[in-house]
Amino acid sequence: MLETLVQLPDDPILGLMAVYRNDPNPLKIDLGVGIYKDEAGNTPVLDAVKKAQLHHINTETTKAYIGPAGAPGFGKVMEALLLGADHPAIVEGRTNTLQTPGGCGALRAAAELVKRCNSGATVWVSNPTWANHIPLMGDTGLQIKEYPYYDRETSSIQFEAMIATLEQVGAGDVVLLHGCCHNPCGADLNLQQWEQVAAVAKARGFLPLVDIAYQGLGDGLDEDAAGLRILAAAVPELLITASCSKNFGLYRERTGAVIAISASSIARDATHSQLCSVVRANYSMPPAHGAALVEIILSSEELTAQWHSELTLMRNRINGLRQLLVDKIVARGIERDFSFITREKGMFSFLGVTPEQVRQMRSENSIYFVDSSRINIAGINNSNIDYLVDSLARVL
Ligand SMILES: Cc1ncc(COP(=O)(O)O)c(C=O)c1O
Repeated sequence: MLETLVQLPDDPILGLMAVYRNDPNPLKIDLGVGIYKDEAGNTPVLDAVKKAQLHHINTETTKAYIGPAGAPGFGKVMEALLLGADHPAIVEGRTNTLQTPGGCGALRAAAELVKRCNSGATVWVSNPTWANHIPLMGDTGLQIKEYPYYDRETSSIQFEAMIATLEQVGAGDVVLLHGCCHNPCGADLNLQQWEQVAAVAKARGFLPLVDIAYQGLGDGLDEDAAGLRILAAAVPELLITASCSKNFGLYRERTGAVIAISASSIARDATHSQLCSVVRANYSMPPAHGAALVEIILSSEELTAQWHSELTLMRNRINGLRQLLVDKIVARGIERDFSFITREKGMFSFLGVTPEQVRQMRSENSIYFVDSSRINIAGINNSNIDYLVDSLARVL
């Protein structure tokens, strides 16, 4: 039977990274894969995580099964981190949180849950969106459609067009929004725009799903969750998918959460049972280790403070690099306006060059990023930025 399978092309990002690894050019730069890197190009384990691991080794009492919902304590700290501890949905007991294998596991569980509510639902995603949103949601059989989001000509959000499309979406459909640090474009809604989206969601009755994978890497932990909190206060039902991969640096530990806010506590119990059944039929139970570390960190004042300061360092480095890149582009005499890069948030922005120019920078200068021109800002550092800007000047 397996003989009937056709070989698929490499994943564009993972394929590119394999070529990068084999490139002997000592000046090569990796701006492709979406992981945080420090000035030395490393993705180190956070000190808060190391301390939590030591504590965990000494206090863990069992490796028995954790259950489909994961650790309840992890669910509680994640709800407080995302919504704020005294959010009405928490106080009224309308939240339901399951620990998941990363943000991807959360997205898939959310999609399966939606399918159980309405197998004919359409999931509306931003144009553009993170490439993996489409298979994670769409492979369940849900339909995928796009709403306009980012105008590459003006490097800004097409908010009127976005709202005009959302005004046509009805009850029974899902609208997927990026909580902060939009991947791939870095352009986030402002608070007024979040209010408008919330008003349309309420009026039309569609179910918003906020995917938040970069909380704390844009403007700050609370600032980055502000849009999500506006929505959660405005609509009766909301899905949230969260990842601890980037902000806790726990990538390979596969740590995330799916949160379902229901209109009532009765609906919450039914939702909980359905989510557990979705998980049981999929990966059965989430891995325990990463979530245990997050729970330890967020339950300790000392470790939380340490995590905050490490996260602040990462955020400041990214925002500093955004400014430095634009300053260097101006100093190099490039006339095109790249100032949008300083207004965007998180690890990604489109550099705004054509696929041909992307390929030219790759073949002539060993600078690796995907054809869409999405760059990982954290891949830039003081040693490679001039080389990058020279290469950009040449292709422009
Ligand atoms: C927008 C977005 N959502 C979700 C995820 C999921 O991350 P993970 O499954 O690694 O936690 C990512 C990771 O790159 C992302 O960019």
